[in-house]
Amino acid sequence: MTGKIIGLGSYLPDKILTNDDLAGIVETSDEWITERTGIKQRHISDHNTERPSQMVVKAALEAVADAGIDPKDIDLIVSASTTSDVLFPTLSTTIHKALDVSEDCGCFDVNSACPGWVAAFNTAQSFIESGNAKLVLVAGAECTSNYVDWEDRGSCILFGDGAGCAVLQACEGKKNEFLMRSSGKRSGCLFCENARQPYRKDEEGFEGLTHFNMNGREVFKFAVTEVPAIIKDLAARYNFSLDEIDYFILHQANARIIEATAKKLKMPIERFPMNIQYTGNTSSASIPMLLKEMKSDGRLVRGQKLIIASFGAGLTWDANYIIY
Ligand code: ACO
Repeated sequence: MTGKIIGLGSYLPDKILTNDDLAGIVETSDEWITERTGIKQRHISDHNTERPSQMVVKAALEAVADAGIDPKDIDLIVSASTTSDVLFPTLSTTIHKALDVSEDCGCFDVNSACPGWVAAFNTAQSFIESGNAKLVLVAGAECTSNYVDWEDRGSCILFGDGAGCAVLQACEGKKNEFLMRSSGKRSGCLFCENARQPYRKDEEGFEGLTHFNMNGREVFKFAVTEVPAIIKDLAARYNFSLDEIDYFILHQANARIIEATAKKLKMPIERFPMNIQYTGNTSSASIPMLLKEMKSDGRLVRGQKLIIASFGAGLTWDANYIIY
């Protein structure tokens, strides 16, 4: 038994912040950002109308429509976010309310920073494999713009806002195969403390109390070492060849990380789709948003073999082998 992805949805805020716009905020340039990250622009939420709890509902509605299901049949919702506008209730119950899902549906959120959606996906798969759920909505939504330090040019250039969702349906097939790894002792290179005031109110002279703290160089070294290694280990553990893989769907953090991974795996870069150029790093929303884009433009078709791999704060990282 496995959970097949039968529907995908995404939401990107209307407002675009280009690299040139950023050059007016911190000392940087389009050339530097493009060369070091591959990012040309990112979307920034309207903090009144595009909060994670609002964006996630838009992505969920699209995923449910794409799946062609009645939301009343969903029996589990699992969401991921590290930058949610609400501590509780969860994003999952927000979706539950908006889609008018039945009370027989379980709802909870997981937090694992950028790999959060993959953690939610693996949790959903475990519910399906154990026979405890048949139709699951897996969501990721982030408003990173509330938490980046807009005075730190080493990090604010990287992030963007957005939401993505997938609907998984139980069906016969090869079970979800994955590896998840963590290094708590390396947590200091990427963290964000909690705060009582999540929203920055710069125009009122108020500075948000908290922001992302990141040692970019360390995170970069971690990613280009551990991501190729976990993908190779996954292939060895489950006895498949990387040559069989149609697409390597990696967390969109930096185009150079993705290129370095392709090189280390000796795989053509064409098999590593990217949308980071215009989304930036949307943390837990990045993978479902990319899958949705690939389905919409016809790149993703049934039967393709995919590696999904993510990495981020914790430090945590993972790799999944799925047949779409
Ligand atoms: N514009 C211009 N110059 C800059 C900028 C900028 N935006 N940012 C840094 N610089 C300067 C630095 O000050 C430094 O100058 P110096 O040599 O005079 O000291 C120089 O550029 C090189 O800085 P590095 O930090 O070494 O630059 P690097 O090539 O490592 O690129 C970057 C920095 C883009 C942040 C890279 O390290 C990176 O992408 N790391 C991974 C970060 C990441 O993906 N984080 C998210 C993980 S997922 C999650 O869970 C959140």
